[in-house]
Amino acid sequence: MDTQKIISGITNEVKDIMGQEGTGHDWWHIYRVLEMAKNIGQQEKADMFVVQLAALLHDIADWKFNDGDDTVGPKLAREILIKHQVSPEVVEQVCEIVEKISFKGAGVSEEMPSVEGKVVQDADRLDAMGAMGIARTFAYGGHAGRPLYDPDNKPIMHQTKEDYFKAKSQGTSINHFYEKLLLLKDKMNTQAAKKLAEGRHKFLEEYLERFFQEWQGKI
Ligand code: NI
Repeated sequence: MDTQKIISGITNEVKDIMGQEGTGHDWWHIYRVLEMAKNIGQQEKADMFVVQLAALLHDIADWKFNDGDDTVGPKLAREILIKHQVSPEVVEQVCEIVEKISFKGAGVSEEMPSVEGKVVQDADRLDAMGAMGIARTFAYGGHAGRPLYDPDNKPIMHQTKEDYFKAKSQGTSINHFYEKLLLLKDKMNTQAAKKLAEGRHKFLEEYLERFFQEWQGKI
């Protein structure tokens, strides 16, 4: 297998499919996850071919945009990998990661068995934290018609995938910080990601503090 040729072929295909859109969940999200996964993957001594393929394909048909159908992603990922003549063994490794990667609510656990999966999951979660996480939360909130914040609308800790999916349009963007973003720090798998998550988490907390002070006209 000419791994470099496969990576660049699949990169071009994913760029075309994901394109650019306004919720921060476009090709450039994939780009950021890919770069971060390379960073963490090297530190964790993961198989970098599997890491890069899984990062590229991890959101190829995200269930959030498929009415909750989480079988679309792995199926499409498999088609693309086979088309680019990736070996069957690697296809299985990558598809398992694509299948297990989505965040499905505060109380729902997602086990990621392989180190490559752990790396890509961490990279994906880091992109929902820090300055990137803030930008994406408000962009998605605008797309879903959510208010920025409503003091009477309290955050809910979702226990099932169905609850989380249903509640997405009912909450506020600030609630999303409490329902997802601030929980991510403790969900990191790898040591490298745990370190990076600390800085991004701190930035989220500082942002919220300032948001509430400005909300009250204090600063
Ligand atoms: Ni993602």
